[in-house]
Amino acid sequence: MCGIVAYVGSKQARPLLIEGLKRMEYRGYDSAGLAVLNGKLEVCRAVGRVAMLEEKLEDAPGFEGTLGLAHTRWATHGGVTEANAHPHRDDKVGIALVHNGIIENYAVLKTYLKEKGHQFHSETDTEVLAMLIGELYEGDLEHAVQAALREVTGAYAIAVICEREPDTLVCARKGSPLMVGIGAGEYVVASDPSAIVSHTTQAFPLDDYNVVKITRTGFRSSTVENVSVTPKIMQLEMDLEQIDLGRFQHFMQKEIFEQPAALRNTLRGRLQRTEGKVVLGGLSAYAKELVRARRIVLAGQGTALHAAMIGEYMLEDLAKVPAVAEYASEFRYRNPIIEDGTVVIAVSQSGETADTLAALNEAKDRGALALGVINVVGSTIARETDAGVYLRVGPEVGVASTKAFTGQVAVLALITLFMARRRFMSTEASTRLIDEMLAVPDKIERICEQDTHIRDVTAKYCDRENWLFLGRGYNYPTALEGALKLKEISYIHAEGMPAAEMKHGPIALINEGMPAVFIANKGRQYEKVMSNIAEVRARGGHVIAVATEGDTEIKKQVEDVIYVPDVAEQLSPMLTVVPLQLMAYHAAVIRGHDVDKPRNLAKSVTVE
Ligand code: AGP
Ligand code: GLU
Repeated sequence: MCGIVAYVGSKQARPLLIEGLKRMEYRGYDSAGLAVLNGKLEVCRAVGRVAMLEEKLEDAPGFEGTLGLAHTRWATHGGVTEANAHPHRDDKVGIALVHNGIIENYAVLKTYLKEKGHQFHSETDTEVLAMLIGELYEGDLEHAVQAALREVTGAYAIAVICEREPDTLVCARKGSPLMVGIGAGEYVVASDPSAIVSHTTQAFPLDDYNVVKITRTGFRSSTVENVSVTPKIMQLEMDLEQIDLGRFQHFMQKEIFEQPAALRNTLRGRLQRTEGKVVLGGLSAYAKELVRARRIVLAGQGTALHAAMIGEYMLEDLAKVPAVAEYASEFRYRNPIIEDGTVVIAVSQSGETADTLAALNEAKDRGALALGVINVVGSTIARETDAGVYLRVGPEVGVASTKAFTGQVAVLALITLFMARRRFMSTEASTRLIDEMLAVPDKIERICEQDTHIRDVTAKYCDRENWLFLGRGYNYPTALEGALKLKEISYIHAEGMPAAEMKHGPIALINEGMPAVFIANKGRQYEKVMSNIAEVRARGGHVIAVATEGDTEIKKQVEDVIYVPDVAEQLSPMLTVVPLQLMAYHAAVIRGHDVDKPRNLAKSVTVE
């Protein structure tokens, strides 16, 4: 997803802006650009990677100055062209603007501005906002931005500078994240903390309808109605080595192998083994309401939804509370019934997914207690919830989510145990499950040791263009997750489904040599899965089984086996997903794709 970085201070802006864009490259984008103001505006834009922009700048004279802004674009309105890349300018007072999001009423505004004589040079909605600010400028950039934003509908994070105000940077947000880093006599504005943390760890996020005017000597935070507000300054926790590759080839690979350490962080201090209790400080103010919940709705998208589906199974199975996991994008629009005693849990790694945020707010408006299972501290969804539990798995840089998935499943298991122990579960049963949870990180380490074997198995099939992923019970969502991982980075078409569903149509797809990945670990439905495996093989399908260590029988029934240690069935997705993550990773590498920045994808989908 797009990225914004802007700077005002005493250092040369250009190198800081380029470094900031590079810090955010993992989010996915298609073009980039920057503007520096030093008496006059100088703008440079390029299609493709930030390196292309950097190359263009090497040959360009000028671009000296200590005030500037930059952007990586993820196109929504208008093709991927240099003319559509940001920054966009007006044609009157020397505005330069970068924007994340969508100006929904840009067409009507564009008509109005054309009637005023403005000439447009791009297809974007963003240029309309730049022109509108220029049109409304009467000598004060902050006021012009406020006036323009009162006219627009949609989602935006913007940074704006103007030739007529060489010391001023104005930024604003609604529905798309933006934060201000506070340095010594300098400020860094960015849509992602990774572009700020190398300059300062003091920062504040903008809230919706916030406008911030910044100069070298200070800042003023207000609303689009020009009402002053006091920002909540926070300490950024991210440290840069967490977002450096280290000994790995790709961030996704690093984050797969990081899962044992990440999960130890997730669990640390939250399990009281002897009492069989879970300690979740973030939920303490709402413990009673949660324990007495009559229904739980879990909402998310993509990988987060798959984790939410496992949470649904756990909550019903162990806490005996009715639960359902829903696509946030569907929940928000289908006029859901939220009765008394309903708790909604928003599951999101970034805490910025537009549909998940909207679903959370929809449920809150209807009276639900709103909880979050989020990774990014201080993110928009985290700030909108009544309470929540952070994953604590560290920044996830790879676009394909891995450690966040196992972190989400672990936190949902903690919440389930938190409820179950206060409802029906005995101390002994809870302690047993806590011991199982504490053993998960070591067991993931053992699976990662099979990386070469998993790569070799993958290499046999990664020329096939259609795969099936099948599982039952807790591992039906894991099958969906395995299919998503393969699709999104190797571009192989893959479909996940409940193993029993195959006979209701998809079995027609099976042809000679078609890879079918079965999650066939020991569990309540093991025999049923074995029958499904036989059905696929009878039709020529090639079965790759994720099986439980010691199951020698299955070896005779399938083409390839990847073993995982035994574990309580409710926790098994944290283990069975790891071979699927590694298979997707190796398939992408073998097929020569950009693992961390797959085509068309963004790390966080902050627009609908
Ligand atoms: C997962 O690999 C994908 N990158 C994507 O489906 C992601 O899980 C989804 O967009 C939700 O993101 P979130 O967890 O940040 O809300
Ligand atoms: N809607 C704007 C455009 O298409 C911004 C897209 C983005 O968020 O990068 O240029």
